Amino acid sequence: MHSLPAMTARNYRIAPSILSANFAKLGEEVDQVLAAGADIVHFDVMDNHYVPNLTIGPLVCEALRKHGVTAPIDVHLMVKPVDRIVPDFAKAGATYITFHADASDHVDRTIALIRDHGCKPGLVFNPAAPLEVLEWTLDKIDMVLLMSVNPGFGGQKFIPYVLDKARRVRAMIDERGLDVSLEIDGGVGPANIAEVARAGVDTFVAGSAVFGAGKDSDPHRYDSVIAQLRAAIAGV
Ligand code: DX5
Ligand code: ZN
Repeated sequence: MHSLPAMTARNYRIAPSILSANFAKLGEEVDQVLAAGADIVHFDVMDNHYVPNLTIGPLVCEALRKHGVTAPIDVHLMVKPVDRIVPDFAKAGATYITFHADASDHVDRTIALIRDHGCKPGLVFNPAAPLEVLEWTLDKIDMVLLMSVNPGFGGQKFIPYVLDKARRVRAMIDERGLDVSLEIDGGVGPANIAEVARAGVDTFVAGSAVFGAGKDSDPHRYDSVIAQLRAAIAGV
């Protein structure tokens, strides 16, 4: 095993957040963003308790799998408690299951629970949340997700100080030589994705920037926004 030279471009992944999709035709929406070149489906689960909004659960994840979606599904749990719902999402076909470190009383146990159910665990940090728990958990997870907005809603403004946090997490991952993805979520679009990539992020959630693009009647309406996102990070 040897690590990749620093000059090698990262394997960037675009993860449209279906929070901003048209839920009345969700299967079609997901097919279209994936056909346009998206890599991962970002699936926002909100419980009107940990965050002040209520969205979708395991039944919808299962419905997407039954519809024929084979791409990774990145389940972002904004729920408290966390553990009760983990097996349901594993059964429903989740690939990643990420949870907010401050939403679980037993972070190590929740990570192990996700892993034991055959999914890839990840830890999520709100903009002002401390990263200290990563010191003990970074080698046990597959993804760190940094929130660049306060969770609960799509279409908010990117919080710039999270770039410093991203640089810090990237340094921790690289110093330890770990294969952990660094994902960012909130307020990302063609105008700032390059700056975010330069801070060491490799996986980019984009909700309103993607699903807000183009005319509803155009089956290729996501092609150009996904291409723009990719073009902006191509040389980074
Ligand atoms: C916010 C969600 C995000 C949201 C991002 O709590 O976790 O995934 O959909 O939306 P945009 O990209 O519009 O900021
Ligand atoms: Zn999210």
